[in-house]
Amino acid sequence: MKDLTPNKADLEPIETASIDEIRATQLERMRWSLRHAYDNVAMYKQRFDAAGVHPDDLQSLSDLAKFPFTYKNDLRDNYPFGLFAVPREQIMRLHASSGTTGKATVVGYTANDINNWADLLARSLRASGLRRGDMVHNAYGYGLFTGGLGAHYGIERLGATVVPMGGGQTEKQVGLINDFKPDGIMVTPSYMLNILEQFHKMGLDPRDSSLSVGVFGAEPWTNAMRVEVEKAFDMHAVDIYGLSEIMGPGVANECVETKDGLHVWEDHFYPEVIDPETGEVLPDGEMGELVFTTLTKEGLPMIRYRTRDLTRLLPGTARSLRRMEKITGRSDDMIILRGVNVFPTQIEEQLMATGGLAPHFQIELYKSGRMDAMRVFVEANPDAADELSKTAAARMLSKRIKDIVGVSTEIVVGDPGEVARSQGKAQRVVDNRDKE
Ligand code: DLL
Repeated sequence: MKDLTPNKADLEPIETASIDEIRATQLERMRWSLRHAYDNVAMYKQRFDAAGVHPDDLQSLSDLAKFPFTYKNDLRDNYPFGLFAVPREQIMRLHASSGTTGKATVVGYTANDINNWADLLARSLRASGLRRGDMVHNAYGYGLFTGGLGAHYGIERLGATVVPMGGGQTEKQVGLINDFKPDGIMVTPSYMLNILEQFHKMGLDPRDSSLSVGVFGAEPWTNAMRVEVEKAFDMHAVDIYGLSEIMGPGVANECVETKDGLHVWEDHFYPEVIDPETGEVLPDGEMGELVFTTLTKEGLPMIRYRTRDLTRLLPGTARSLRRMEKITGRSDDMIILRGVNVFPTQIEEQLMATGGLAPHFQIELYKSGRMDAMRVFVEANPDAADELSKTAAARMLSKRIKDIVGVSTEIVVGDPGEVARSQGKAQRVVDNRDKE
C-alpha cells in the first residue's frame, strides 16, 4: 500500500492546535450556539426554561452537562421544520432520513452550513490520504440521504475530480473504476463487498485497480473487515462517521497514517459520552452513548443530541482533536439473547475469522418457544461450497460465537450469492420475533 501520510503544511491550524486553544474555541462557539438555539427555537427555550438553565449559565465547557438532552423523537415531533433556527427562506438545502418507523426526520442547512460541511468533508478526505488533483469515485447514494451530496461537495472542495456515481448498478461501477482509474472510492463498506465480488465476476483483479484508498462509513464495520478489503484491493480502508442530524458524513474521520479511531472535528461538534441509563457524563476513555452539541450550525442547531451510537473518547494522536473509537454498534441494534448483549459487529468479527465463508451475513431473530433465538445466514466461498466444507464452516462459526460472544446460534451456510446484497447501508438484523 502507498504511503499516503498528508503533508503537515496542508493541515488546518486547528488540527495541530494546543488543547487550550481548542477548548477556548469550543467555549466561545458553544456560548453562541446555546444562545442561537434558545433565542430562535421554541423547543429549546421551553426545555432550558423548564430545566432552570440559561445560555448565560455556561461558564465552562463542563457546564454543558446542566442542559437538557435532545432526542430523535424531538425532530419527529417538530416535523418538518419546527427545529430550524432561521427563517425557511435562509435554508439552502434539505435532507431527510426515511426512518424505518414513524415520520422522516428532516434537516436543513444555511449557505454557511453547506460551506462548513464542504470544508469538513475536505478535511476528512485529506485525513484519509486524498489530495488536490486526485479523482474520487463517489458511490454513496445521492438524494435525500446526506451521503452522496455531502461527499460530493467535499471532494470538490478538496480540489479533486468527483465521479458522481451514486449507489447501485454494480457492473457499471466496476466498469467506470476500470476506465476512469480513480485514486479513491467513497461507499458503504457492505456495498464495497459487492463491488469486490463484481470485480471477480468480470474477471478483473481488484489488486490491479487504481484505487489507493477507500473512505467507508454510514454503518458499523470491523477491523477484520478492514483487513479483508485492504488485502483484496491493495489499498487503505479508512473510517468516516457522521449523522444527518449533526451534519452528515464528515463529523469524524480516521487518519490514514494511524487508523486508530476517528478524530472528531470538535471545533464544530462538541462530543460527550454519557451513561445511556442515567445520562451522567462519563470521563474520556469510558464506553457509553455519544452525544453531540453543534458549535457553528445555523440552520438546525443541536444541543446535546443523543446519537445512540456507542463508543468512547480517546486523546488525539495524528491530530490534536480527540478521537472516538470505531463504533461497535448502536443501542438500537443491540440484541439481548438470554441476558447476553450481542452486536452484529461481533458476529462479523467471528465470521471473518472462520475459513471458507464469504463476508456477507444477515441475522434473524425469532421465537423458540417463549425464548428469543438467533439464526445467522452466511454463505460459502465459491471454493468451499461443497456440503462437507459448508457443514464444517457452520460448526466452526457456531463454536466461535458460543466461545467468544457467549451465545448459542443456529448457522445456515448458503451457496455463494444467497445472502441478500446491500446497495447502501446493509440490513444486518431481521426481527421475526412477532411472527409465527
Ligand atoms: O449515514 C451519514 C454518513 C454518510 C456517514 C456517509 C458516513 C458516510 P444517517 O443516515 O443519518 O447519516 O445515519 C447516521 O449511521 O448515527 C451511525 O449509527 C451510523 N454510522 C454512520 N457512520 C458510521 C461509521 C449517515 N463510520 C448513523 N461507523 C449514525 C458506524 C456509522 N456507524
